[in-house]
Amino acid sequence: MQILNFHDARRQARRRLPTGIFEYIDRGSEDETAIRASRQAFDTYRLIPRVLRNETPPDARVTLLGESWSQPFMVAPTACAGLARYNGEIELARAAERFGIPFCAATESITSLDEIADSVSRRPWFQLYVWHPLEHSLDLLARAHRMGITVLVVTVDTPVAPNREYNARNGFEMPFRFGARNMLDLTRHPGWLARVMLPYLMKGRLPDFANYPPAYRATLLSRGTKESLIHHPRLDWDIIGRLRDKWPGHFIVKGILHPDDARQAARAGADGIVVSSHGARNFDSATTVLDALPAIVEATGAQLTILADSGVQRGSDVFKLLHAGAQGVLVGRAMLYGLACSGAAAGHMMQVLANELSATMSFSGCRSIEEIRQCQKQSNQD
Ligand code: FNR
Repeated sequence: MQILNFHDARRQARRRLPTGIFEYIDRGSEDETAIRASRQAFDTYRLIPRVLRNETPPDARVTLLGESWSQPFMVAPTACAGLARYNGEIELARAAERFGIPFCAATESITSLDEIADSVSRRPWFQLYVWHPLEHSLDLLARAHRMGITVLVVTVDTPVAPNREYNARNGFEMPFRFGARNMLDLTRHPGWLARVMLPYLMKGRLPDFANYPPAYRATLLSRGTKESLIHHPRLDWDIIGRLRDKWPGHFIVKGILHPDDARQAARAGADGIVVSSHGARNFDSATTVLDALPAIVEATGAQLTILADSGVQRGSDVFKLLHAGAQGVLVGRAMLYGLACSGAAAGHMMQVLANELSATMSFSGCRSIEEIRQCQKQSNQD
């Protein structure tokens, strides 16, 4: 089947992946009202076409944190991309490099940060979940710095484990539990077992969180025999400040939806923030990113690089986040659905988003990313 858009890629991913993995990627939390609200916000955000302004084709290049990129979107950090495809993080990092966009590696990757960084020539960005005890996170930061990584993205929007009941039903939890339902699920997807699980087994390993210190690396199949390393339960601005002081590169705080939190991030010395509802997968009552962005941009747009994500399915969604004030956009699920088919299909999804963004720019009469934002200022003043 041809992949013409996000929905085609999603359908393909649903067919290829065990239900437990597909739902882990696809779904939200509790009653999934945040996913619906986010979609509705994109759909009701209407753009006014402009005509006869297309003397040159739209140019989507951007400069973010001093580096230039071919598009204003990038690959969001996603845990377990290595379960959508064997070596999934490396495949995604390479696809992003070929396309000229940033790739952000996740703390909870199946492939280690070192291996991901060694597989590409441009350094990935690195997303940090702060662990308790903190020393382990400081060690990981030091490792990332030694690798030459310059952009750190610290995720702050997960104070407790989100309530994802389908994960419990599917047995998609850490450690992985074998039950009748997920055994049946796996046997129904022999292609995934052969393409993803078998190559890991042949390399003598079961997938696990490769960035975790060895003492804590519970494999997905272990039965909780190892002590677990938890997200810091009392993460606060003091700790963020300490991490900022320890990190010599660019420092981005991910998961902000309130202007006061954005101001606080600026005071803590952040260079940027990601305005994000974590793909509407964490807090089911959360506001939408499109609703939150304007006030945050007004409060901190002069001090911070403002990135945004959650719910992007089309290039027009990327445009709308830029129009609402973001300077760059992270994309999670669309990349993972492509990846579930192949690394090349992930690259293809990048091209699909770029084509759709270019068309939206043409319809809106915007020749550059900068013009998208100017267009927003005019409509505010109107
Ligand atoms: C995520 N996201 C995420 N964010 C983060 O900071 N650390 C992480 O480990 C993960 N893991 C993760 C796994 C999966 C399967 C998904 C889909 C998402 C959130 C991610 O970075 C981003 O905020 C959202 O994915 C953006 O929304 P869309 O594009 O997926 O709708």
